[in-house]
Amino acid sequence: MRKQMSSDTTEAELLELNEALLDSIAAGDWDSYIELCAGDLTCFEPESRGHLVEGMEFHRYYFELPKGEGPVNMTMSTPQVRILGPDAAVISYARLTQRLGADGAPVTSRTEETRIWQRIDGRWRHVHFHRSVAT
Ligand code: GLY
Repeated sequence: MRKQMSSDTTEAELLELNEALLDSIAAGDWDSYIELCAGDLTCFEPESRGHLVEGMEFHRYYFELPKGEGPVNMTMSTPQVRILGPDAAVISYARLTQRLGADGAPVTSRTEETRIWQRIDGRWRHVHFHRSVAT
């Protein structure tokens, strides 16, 4: 029972951290984003055009672009947390992003994300993700 409670707590904490990560992306909040990520973060995402990107500079570019009009809201749909051990976990979900389109009308887009978290020196850090555009 104790173990189950502990695992539930870890899952809740990781979901909160992942949500904070998405919020930082939505807000273009670079300081919060790098606070949550390992400096040697790796990823595959549509922007990397099939290349495994390592480090933060690739991501910084997008945070420094002018902000679009209107609010952005991101939702993790049916997130699944798999605890891989005391210091590692994987979270998978569909990400729904709401924003204003070019015509000013709200649009929702969907991507599929897998994000890996690792506890390093006692702190959970985001270490790898893979995002695919919805098929
Ligand atoms: N492109 C930044 C991220 O999805 O974490």
